[in-house]
Amino acid sequence: MSEHFKGKVAIVTGGGSGIGLATAKAFAKAGTRVVIAEINDVVGEEAAREIHELHGKCIFVHTDVSNTNSVATLVARTVSAFGRLDYAINNAGIDPELVPEATWDEQMFDRIIGVNLKGVFLCMKHELAQMEKQGHGIIVNVSSIAGLTAVGNKPSYTASKHGVVGMTKAAALQYARRGIRINALCPGGVDTPIAEDNHGGDPAFIASMSNAHPIGRIADPAEIAAGALFLCSDAASFMIGHSLVLDGGLIAG
Ligand SMILES: NC(=O)c1ccc[n+]([C@@H]2O[C@H](COP(=O)([O-])OP(=O)(O)OC[C@H]3O[C@@H](n4cnc5c(N)ncnc54)[C@H](O)[C@@H]3O)[C@@H](O)[C@H]2O)c1
Repeated sequence: MSEHFKGKVAIVTGGGSGIGLATAKAFAKAGTRVVIAEINDVVGEEAAREIHELHGKCIFVHTDVSNTNSVATLVARTVSAFGRLDYAINNAGIDPELVPEATWDEQMFDRIIGVNLKGVFLCMKHELAQMEKQGHGIIVNVSSIAGLTAVGNKPSYTASKHGVVGMTKAAALQYARRGIRINALCPGGVDTPIAEDNHGGDPAFIASMSNAHPIGRIADPAEIAAGALFLCSDAASFMIGHSLVLDGGLIAG
């Protein structure tokens, strides 16, 4: 698989932490030049520095995926640094709705939709413009099992992730004959800092999350990164508009 990724260029949004960081490292290890697109400068710069030292070319571009100018700059900086854009992993997301309390908070809704759904819309808009010029490209949008089933008491998050699945399908159909493949990833629970946001580090909640997964644990971020690489590989050449579920059996029952 490595030959396929060598010398290519990938954007990973939210690449400073969790699934994005693991994905950026996996691409870099496979020989891809990586752009870490992050709103958090501290983790973004640290990720780019670490990957650059270990595997070669990697840059950080401060990015707010919910802002169109910021995303336009991200794609422009990517092309000026590396000359092309082969893969885009639209992964940046937030999950601040607390369980078990339902939060029908309008500002919360706008914030979550702004990053998780509009963010993916804006990223695809600017990435597709570049990929269309090249005549090729592969996009992976990180949704969630909350994009396929509802998470109780997370109305905004669930809506945002269902939206990502729907938008992925619409874009995939639009670009299927233009050399651009677009798919979604739907992870179950993954051991990343985002989890802290919605359970406040409560050990009982973490244990119950692991137990809810038939495999008996939540995922390591590297297991989700493997799915992103698979979707960008030739092994997935006939996959278009698909939602790849990586959930330890969570929604199989
Ligand atoms: N961890 C899980 O259990 C889980 C499960 C399913 C889906 N997901 C999804 O995976 C994605 C990554 O989550 P994670 O678990 O790695 O979380 P994380 O918090 O570790 O990483 C998310 C990163 O996105 C960045 N970010 C947030 N807002 C941004 C913005 N506006 N612009 C640019 N960057 C921004 C954050 O700074 C952070 O570094 C999210 O879309 C999340 O919804 C996570």
